[in-house]
Amino acid sequence: MRSLILALCLMSLPAWAQAPKTSSFDLMKPETQAMQRDDASNPAMLWIAEGRTLWSEKAGASRKACADCHGDVGSLRGVAVRYPAFKATQHKVITLDQQIQICRVQEQKADPWALESRPVLALSALIGLQSRGLALLPATPAEASTLAQGRALYEERRGQMNLSCAQCHDDNAGKSLGGAVIPQGHPTGYPLYRLEWQDLGSVERRLRNCMVGVRSEPYPYGSPEMVALEVFLRDRAAGLPLETPAIRP
Ligand code: HEC
Ligand code: HEC
Repeated sequence: MRSLILALCLMSLPAWAQAPKTSSFDLMKPETQAMQRDDASNPAMLWIAEGRTLWSEKAGASRKACADCHGDVGSLRGVAVRYPAFKATQHKVITLDQQIQICRVQEQKADPWALESRPVLALSALIGLQSRGLALLPATPAEASTLAQGRALYEERRGQMNLSCAQCHDDNAGKSLGGAVIPQGHPTGYPLYRLEWQDLGSVERRLRNCMVGVRSEPYPYGSPEMVALEVFLRDRAAGLPLETPAIRP
């Protein structure tokens, strides 16, 4: 009886609730979904293995490994779902990949790694994997101004096609565009292995593809605009589970 009442309450939900948030995973072919579900057939696991090696490798003038300060990488469970994050020590919001760069230079005292380089992606994927299945978290009050900047960029029309992110990912999500279905655009699986790239890439690489797609100049990796867009996307996707490392077509 109690469950019947609960069922009736749930049935009345859609009247006022918004369209449910969905991951692009739901739009993929069953074969591609199977590839993501099975770690043994997910090519991103090659980067994860590399990340594990890097995690315990002593480097730089400090002769310290990530593990020497952070312990088992499993202790970073819950970290990836709250990045990009405001860092008081940096006086700004930074991405997880930028945090890895900072530890590399400031803590290990080693040569810097570029964004989108193989070691940064490998460690970022490994740290992301620790939070697989956890819900992405909304922006915090300290991230509010970056969130607002990200929202403005998301709604701004750009490029020769004069299209905003919102026009595709909010107004036309679910419709097809030149063979692909436009997803809601939630960053649930990054860094991920994209079949089209034959490579692992960050969410910034994906956003640059979307920017080039509307014939606009893409923002540089790690730029304030990229970081702001990522904070907005994370907040917009809040509640969806992290899939890192995902597969996309
Ligand atoms: C000498 C010690 C040291 C080493 C070596 C080190 N870190 Fe850190 N790491 C820190 C400290 C201290 C912080 C906290 C900094 C802050 O909050 O601004 C931190 C923060 C982080 C965070 C953010 C955690 C959070 O809760 O937000 C990540 C991720 C991280 N480190 C990854 C790495 C990786 C990957 C490596 C190896 C490439 C590494 N660290 C090497 C000391 C170290
Ligand atoms: C012309 C329509 C269009 C515009 C404008 C556009 N995108 Fe996309 N976006 C797409 C399509 C289509 C895909 C999926 C492509 C595929 O999987 O083959 C995508 C994928 C994405 C994804 C990846 C989702 C996932 O699960 O991997 C994100 C995030 C995203 N877009 C964000 C943005 C942002 C932010 C902007 C604005 C800077 C933007 N997009 C502009 C069409 C668009």
